[in-house]
Amino acid sequence: MKIILSEEQLRGILSELVTRRKDPFSMEGSQHMIYDSKKNPNIVFKVGHPHFVDEWLPIFKKYPQYFPKIYRVGILKDRHDYKYVEMDKLNTKRVKEEWSEMTLLLTDAGLIDEDNNINDVFINCILDEEYDNRVISTIQNMDRSVYQLFIKWLNFLHKLNSVVAPIKGSTLDIHDGNFGYDKQGNIKCFDI
Ligand SMILES: Nc1ncnc2c1ncn2[C@@H]1O[C@H](COP(=O)(O)OP(=O)(O)O)[C@@H](O)[C@H]1O
Ligand SMILES: [Mg+2]
Repeated sequence: MKIILSEEQLRGILSELVTRRKDPFSMEGSQHMIYDSKKNPNIVFKVGHPHFVDEWLPIFKKYPQYFPKIYRVGILKDRHDYKYVEMDKLNTKRVKEEWSEMTLLLTDAGLIDEDNNINDVFINCILDEEYDNRVISTIQNMDRSVYQLFIKWLNFLHKLNSVVAPIKGSTLDIHDGNFGYDKQGNIKCFDI
C-alpha cells in the first residue's frame, strides 16, 4: 500500500532515521539503505527505489514467520520518491557467531575447502537431496550441539527457499549477512 506523506509526517519519519552517510539517499551501488531508528533500538528502516522494494515487500508481508515484522511503509517525498519500510531490527551478531561455529565443524568434516564455503554447502543441500543426505550423515556424529544448530538452519533455509524460490525465480541469497534472530528467538531473513 502506498502512503503519500504530508510534510509534517515526513519530518517525523526523517527525524527517526540515523544518517549513516553524508547523503542519506545515495545508494552507491547497493539497492537499499538501512537506517537505525533514533527513537527505538528495536527498529530499522530499509529505504530503496519502489521497484526494488516491491520485489521483496509482498513476500515479507505474506510470510511473517520467515521475515522481520513490518510496521509502517511509505514513500519519502524527496527528489527520489524512495520507499521506506519500517521493520524489526534483528540480532545479526548471533547469526555470525553460529555460522562461524558451523564453518569450523564443516571444515573439520572436510566439507569446506578453498573452493567451497558454508554458503555453498547450504545452497547445495537445498538444491540436491543426495548431497544433503551425505552432509548430514558426515557430520551427525560430530559435536552434538553444532550438528543440531546446522540441522535447525538447514530446515529453516529449506522452508524459506520453498516459498521464496518460486516467486523470485532463483535460489535464496544465502550468506550470514542476510539473516538475524528476532526477540522470540526465531531465525528470520531480511534479504532474499
Ligand atoms: N531487519 C534488520 N535487522 C538488523 N539488521 C539489518 C536488518 N535489515 C538489514 N540489516 C543490516 O543491513 C545490512 C544490509 O541489509 P540487506 O537487507 O542485506 O541489504 P543489501 O544486502 O541489499 O545491502 C545487513 O547485512 C544487516 O547488517
Ligand atoms: Mg544482503
